Amino acid sequence: MALPKIAIIMSTTRQTRFGEKPAQWIYAIASQRNDMEVELLDLRDFPMPFFDEVASNAYAPTTNEVAVRWQQKVAEFDGYIFVTAEYNRGIPGVLKNALDYAYPEWNRKAAAFVGYGSVGAARSIEHLRLICVELQMAPTRTGVHIQGGDFMAVWRHGQSLTEIDYLQQNASTMLDELVWWTNALKAARAQS
Ligand SMILES: Cc1cc2nc3c(=O)[nH]c(=O)nc-3n(C[C@H](O)[C@H](O)[C@H](O)COP(=O)(O)O)c2cc1C
Repeated sequence: MALPKIAIIMSTTRQTRFGEKPAQWIYAIASQRNDMEVELLDLRDFPMPFFDEVASNAYAPTTNEVAVRWQQKVAEFDGYIFVTAEYNRGIPGVLKNALDYAYPEWNRKAAAFVGYGSVGAARSIEHLRLICVELQMAPTRTGVHIQGGDFMAVWRHGQSLTEIDYLQQNASTMLDELVWWTNALKAARAQS
């Protein structure tokens, strides 16, 4: 069976974002594995307006051209890693908008999470897991949470994420879970 295709999706687009560091970090780890193919997706490349369609594309085709291009890109993958910040205890609006702009493309696929912030985006990732359930995705138990002093050390004091041992272990466990669910769901999709 071909290797599962995994998209790493960055949640923020602001010019001075931190999000690129954890995204590049998990991309480097995932691309060294021989059980998945990974691609990094930047929502800056998909500048969609706030959702303004007659319905979800579960019910009516989307008219916005960028959003259609986004749906086609999402459809290419078997699973996803969301690299997310926490904005006022929720996921950043640009990520929510991107999630809302697709539906069947997410269905019956696996999702994993890398969060960063004062509590490692734990609160926004719990919210994101619920959103994933509504989108008929299977969220992994394990997430990677870059938090507290570690987040500050990397954000403000130039420490590298590769120097923080427990994060490498968390990433490995999470990616193992993601591959298991991705392969299971890929096989099930092929049969149905
Ligand atoms: C609008 C806004 C709201 C924020 N709310 C939270 C929050 O609820 N919890 C938290 O840990 N950090 C919060 N922060 C701090 C972010 O964790 C930090 O700025 C992080 O770098 C944001 O990700 P980004 O740089 O990729 O945009 C907030 C930042 C912004 C800009």
